[in-house]
Amino acid sequence: MTNGMWKGRFSKATADLVQQYGESISYDWRLYKHDVAGSIAHARAQVKAGILTQDEFEQIESGLRDIEKDIDAGNFDFSIELEDIHMNIESELTKRIGAVGGKLHTARSRNDQVATDTRLYCREEIDTITTQVKELQVALLKKAEQYADAVIPGYTHLQRGQPVTVGHHLLAYVEMFARDIDRLTDARKRVNVSPLGSGALAGSTINLDRQQIADELGFDRVTTNSMDAISDRDYIMELLFDFALIGTHLSRISEDLILWCSSEFGFATLSDAHTTGSSLMPQKKNPDVCEITRGKSGRLYGNLVSLLTAAKGLPLTYNRDLQEDKEPLFDSIDTIKIALAVNAEMIADMTVNIEECKAAASDPMLLATDLADYLVKNGVPFRSAHELVGQAVAVAVESKTPLDQIDLTKISEHYGADASAVFSLETALKARTNPGAPSIENVKAEVARWKNTI
Ligand code: ARG
Repeated sequence: MTNGMWKGRFSKATADLVQQYGESISYDWRLYKHDVAGSIAHARAQVKAGILTQDEFEQIESGLRDIEKDIDAGNFDFSIELEDIHMNIESELTKRIGAVGGKLHTARSRNDQVATDTRLYCREEIDTITTQVKELQVALLKKAEQYADAVIPGYTHLQRGQPVTVGHHLLAYVEMFARDIDRLTDARKRVNVSPLGSGALAGSTINLDRQQIADELGFDRVTTNSMDAISDRDYIMELLFDFALIGTHLSRISEDLILWCSSEFGFATLSDAHTTGSSLMPQKKNPDVCEITRGKSGRLYGNLVSLLTAAKGLPLTYNRDLQEDKEPLFDSIDTIKIALAVNAEMIADMTVNIEECKAAASDPMLLATDLADYLVKNGVPFRSAHELVGQAVAVAVESKTPLDQIDLTKISEHYGADASAVFSLETALKARTNPGAPSIENVKAEVARWKNTI
């Protein structure tokens, strides 16, 4: 059967394969609530423009609300012959209320309709995902508070660098997610613009009140160029980037936790509820959630690249290629939502093994830089101080002696009797008082600041 919505000039039925190839109803059905809301706002503007009587509007509105309820309840048969959610709903409306349903598409095209639906959908999902990112921040923040003063080595190149605290380490992630929220908030401004009234590409000779429609749908403003409005998918690409970057951040936490949970590190333990066993090795407790999250970041990047590539080189305005925007968008949204939820739960249930962290942080090598700073305070230029401490490190490595037990006075006259006082974790952290540095007071103050912010 050929689609009744546009069959006028066609004398042959659409091939089955073409229907299968071109349908989007199998996934864009999830836009139904937004499609109904958009249609009702559009119909109300038609009354104002004298296209519909109030009575006709009421028939259309109640018809659409009934359809929405049926879809809610799972009592709606979607048809691939009707290709997408827009034509499925409109065709059913006309079936239910008769010819008046055929008036709804006046001064509208599926091109501005799909752009409207997708923007409404994105707006809703941005709000949900923003809340979820905040929930993850709260989970991290609680652990940061609990372990504000638990010392742990900070790493560069995955080699022990300098002491920090678990609180400081976790707050680094709170910062990343705050930037993600900023990005989503900013993207929302570009999402929340109404394209309805742009028609297929050139507006319409029937001028509906676009501002009224935008107001009803909660958009901040109307788009200002009909050709741009119906072919713009920037806001989707932007969101896919934002989700991809959240994926990167999640993947980096995952990697930290995988390391922390290994016997080699032993810094943290995940709850049994958030780990899995091995069908063969009875002792195993695997951080699968972290690995799945790390893996899923790949599909988030893939979805972004997929749409960037699909949209590249498209002539203005609408081309069917643009239908390829939805599956990556839906997939990224589904992926990021479950990833955020499971990670928030897992982190809330995580235990940090304070003693293991402390043992690792107590390696005196972590204070080699502080020893150089000590020499600097005694008037030695930093480069020479670095060299002198390097020599002490070499002696320690060679003689397999901890750095804090080397006789430093043999290496340089710049070391005084007080040099050994450098090898105190407590002193080392206490001294790091500049903004952003990991003194315990700073970390606690940051925890308090975030508690007020989130
Ligand atoms: N299913 C289509 C999409 O997602 C709706 C718009 C179709 N417009 C058209 N002119 N064929 O892009």
